[in-house]
Amino acid sequence: MSSFVWMKVLESAPERYDRGVHRLSRGRIDDVYRRIAERVAAPARTILDIGCGTGGVSLACAARGAEVFGIDLDAGMLEVARAKPVPGDGTVTFLQLAAAEIEDRFPERTLDAVVSCLAFSELSPEQQAYALKIARTRLRPGGELLIADEVAPRSGARRAWYHLRRAPLIALTYVLTQTTTRPVAGLADAVRATGFREVTETRIWEDTFVLVHGVRAEAAGASASTEEGS
Ligand SMILES: C[S@@+](CC[C@H](N)C(=O)[O-])C[C@H]1O[C@@H](n2cnc3c(N)ncnc32)[C@H](O)[C@@H]1O
Repeated sequence: MSSFVWMKVLESAPERYDRGVHRLSRGRIDDVYRRIAERVAAPARTILDIGCGTGGVSLACAARGAEVFGIDLDAGMLEVARAKPVPGDGTVTFLQLAAAEIEDRFPERTLDAVVSCLAFSELSPEQQAYALKIARTRLRPGGELLIADEVAPRSGARRAWYHLRRAPLIALTYVLTQTTTRPVAGLADAVRATGFREVTETRIWEDTFVLVHGVRAEAAGASASTEEGS
């Protein structure tokens, strides 16, 4: 698996992002987009996609009939997204909006699902905590959260090799873009601590990618399970 640390470089040329992310994921990113959509999208469901980029997840959800709002900071990524045809019967509205501005644009309890793919790794821990908290308040009771992102492997040797391989790439991408990404850590626990219940963590791609799913409950309360996926 090539490291997703290169994403920041890809984002500096949005018209090349799709090709680049396909290469970094060895052609498997569409499966993740589809997996997210299969889990949360259906006709008459309203979905918020945080850090939608060029629209992969948003469009996969629209293909299943959902009303989707894709938000992103980056005008260039949004321009690429808006140029794509919307498949299926759903709708997509792409908005230039930061994760920190969600509460200004979306009233409480109006969303059926909040999703995000490869964007939490670009947020600081404080921004992640804020996004989780606001996502919870914007979801209707029973609404779903699904976050997919890069993660460091759990086993010692694989983890050490992962970080060793990543270090020079971080330095290089920092020189090129003055920023970097961090694999998400402790995300399922953070989702649980925010008050989501039925939290599951599914690891794929040789333990380097995670999908965390949770459900908004009325009262805070949490249960957990960890499962392996492929
Ligand atoms: C690697 S791309 C992922 C795009 C898309 N979700 C995908 O899976 O292909 C990360 C995106 O998150 C956006 N992003 C980063 N920080 C953000 C923030 N604070 N608010 C909104 N979008 C943000 C970036 O502009 C970028 O388009």
